[in-house]
This record gives sequence, C-alpha cells and structure tokens, in this order.
Amino acid sequence: MALPRYTVPSLTKENGAKVAKILQERLHSLNDLQLTLKHIHWNVVGPHFIAVHEMLDPQVDAVRLMADAVAERIATLGVAPVGTPGALVAARSWDDYHLGRATAIEHLGALDEVYEGVITSHRKAAADTEELDAVTNDLLIGHLHDLELFHWFVRAHLESTGGALATEGAKTELEAAREAHKAK
Ligand SMILES: [Fe+2]
Repeated sequence: MALPRYTVPSLTKENGAKVAKILQERLHSLNDLQLTLKHIHWNVVGPHFIAVHEMLDPQVDAVRLMADAVAERIATLGVAPVGTPGALVAARSWDDYHLGRATAIEHLGALDEVYEGVITSHRKAAADTEELDAVTNDLLIGHLHDLELFHWFVRAHLESTGGALATEGAKTELEAAREAHKAK
C-alpha cells in the first residue's frame, strides 16, 4: 500500500492509508448507488410510477452528497480519491443492477436488496474505522442514518400489515423482484 506524503494530525501515514482504502470502496459503492437510483427513476413503469419516480430523486441528491463527503475525506487524509466509472467497475465486488423497464413493486423489491448490500458494507466500514479514525467513523455513521431511513422507505412498500417483508429470504435482486411482484 502506497503511503500518503501527509495525513490528518495524530494519525500515522499507515493508518491514514488504511482508512482511505476503506473509504475508497465506500466511494465506489455510493457512486454506483446514485447511478442505480437514477436508472430506477427512469425505468419504473405502472400504476405506482409517480410515487417511486419522485421518491428517488431526494435519495439521489443525498447519496451524491455522501459520495462527495467521502471523496473529500479521502483527499483530506492525503490520498487521491478515484471517481471514474472504469475504476469503479474494475474494483467493485458486486454485479450491475439487473432490472431494466419494470414495475414499481419489482424495482422496489430489487432496491431492497441493493440497500441491504450497501448498508451492510457501510456498517462494516464504520466498525472497521471505529478505532482507527473517529472522524471517518462519525462520517459513515451519519450516512447510515439516512441510508437506513431510505431503506425503510423502500421496505414500507413491501411490508404487509402484519409487518412481514415480501422480499424476506430473497438472495438476489431478481428473486426479490419476483417475490415482491407475487405478494402484491
Ligand atoms: Fe428526473
């Protein structure tokens, strides 16, 4: 791992590099998420079009601000953030979003899976930076407040009056989309 020439006061350069590496993966994840949310905004069809179409834009705006804050934290740590799409695709450990034109409920089922993945990784990054850098930890925890709220907005559409999720147990976006469609 290449060391930065400087990092924030009281962190070693090694720890600065370690934190920046964790944040770089979060930057890719948030950039991927903001594009995926727009893709859904453009491709949702059916009777619930306008509700989902309009619900997503504030999420896009919030996630873009999160990506900006993460990139600037990486730069603050003395490391160059990477925000290009080719680097994102080469580095990511997850697949591209699977649905094209589809109904609101199918996209919401798939988006439940997307948020599940992003939040699980964000929580792990927060835990991994807790000892290393409290400021980065605080940044990630702040994002989780909103990401988990957005996840609930999605899940509320998939929830029965008994509180069960239509997508429970689904392992993939397509499976989740199918389950959500069946339960509708
Ligand atoms: Fe739009």
